[in-house]
Amino acid sequence: MIMKILVTGNAGFIGFHLVKKLVNSGHEIVGLDNINNYYDIDLKFGRLEQTGIDSKNLGYNRFVQSNEYMDYRFIKLNIEDRGNIENLFETEGFDVVCHLAAQAGVRYSLKDPHTYIQSNIVGFMNILEGCRHNNIKHLVYASSSSVYGLNTKMPFSTQDNVDHPVSLYAASKKSNELMAHTYSHLYGIPTTGLRFFTVYGPWGRPDMAYFKFTKAIIEDRSIDVYNYGNMERDFTYVDDVVAGIIKIIGSEPPEGNNEWYSEEPVPSISKAPYRIYNIGNNRPVNLMDFIGAVEKATGKEVKKELQAYATR
Ligand SMILES: NC(=O)c1ccc[n+]([C@@H]2O[C@H](COP(=O)([O-])OP(=O)(O)OC[C@H]3O[C@@H](n4cnc5c(N)ncnc54)[C@H](O)[C@@H]3O)[C@@H](O)[C@H]2O)c1
Repeated sequence: MIMKILVTGNAGFIGFHLVKKLVNSGHEIVGLDNINNYYDIDLKFGRLEQTGIDSKNLGYNRFVQSNEYMDYRFIKLNIEDRGNIENLFETEGFDVVCHLAAQAGVRYSLKDPHTYIQSNIVGFMNILEGCRHNNIKHLVYASSSSVYGLNTKMPFSTQDNVDHPVSLYAASKKSNELMAHTYSHLYGIPTTGLRFFTVYGPWGRPDMAYFKFTKAIIEDRSIDVYNYGNMERDFTYVDDVVAGIIKIIGSEPPEGNNEWYSEEPVPSISKAPYRIYNIGNNRPVNLMDFIGAVEKATGKEVKKELQAYATR
């Protein structure tokens, strides 16, 4: 079935790869991003250029047609901009919304917590309202493995409760899941939340450890190793994440699940059309092995500053 799909955050890492796969697939694609300067905007422009969007021709709240793909347009817009988001949803009539725009990053949420509330809560609210009033058939949105917070039971399971976040970023993502459930329940909007686990790959985010470590090694600087190196992380290659998203977009949206019992409420499903998936985990890599791999690839050893602080 041919669909009109809104992909938010598509000047970003995962959104860019998703759009690159979706164009030419028969669907009509609208990409949206405010191109904020959380990291180098030239990287965002470069991603847009890869899909035929002329980054010199961008204006706020104005569509730019891809010069490579007929079925793809981009709009520079802030999801916090309620009026223009309302207008966009009304005029475009999307079938599916894939919402990836967010203030990402765990560490940065200590430095600038307000942006997380603005982009991830206020912005998400505007997306939900757009879905509510415009008969969206499926809202797929990015959550994060960060929601597992203090949980130590492995592997992380969507069946476990995630009520102990350890960063405002994680709290904002958990809030998105709660908000989505409310809208699925109240208005019957089918929603699927995807918990991503440290995604890596080309055109990746420079704030992520593999870029920061590599840069430090090349520049002969030391690196901070959190929790004395005693940490494990799951990594997912971006193409695998994109394959997961496309599979979900192409399959039936969730329906209310009759096997959900209010007396024993499993967190990942509901009697409302709501579900949560982990996208790619269960093969954790030890932090020191990870650093060793970067050392091997660069042919250099790095000085490690062991820190007590742990992120998630
Ligand atoms: N990359 C990962 O490892 C990872 C892991 C877990 C969850 N996630 C989630 O996946 C999604 C995509 O992550 P990413 O790695 O591509 O991040 P990214 O920062 O590269 O992409 C996010 C994009 O959203 C845009 N954006 C932010 N706030 C916006 C706003 N208010 N209005 C419009 N656009 C806005 C940014 O400009 C950026 O281009 C995010 O929701 C993130 O929280 C990512």
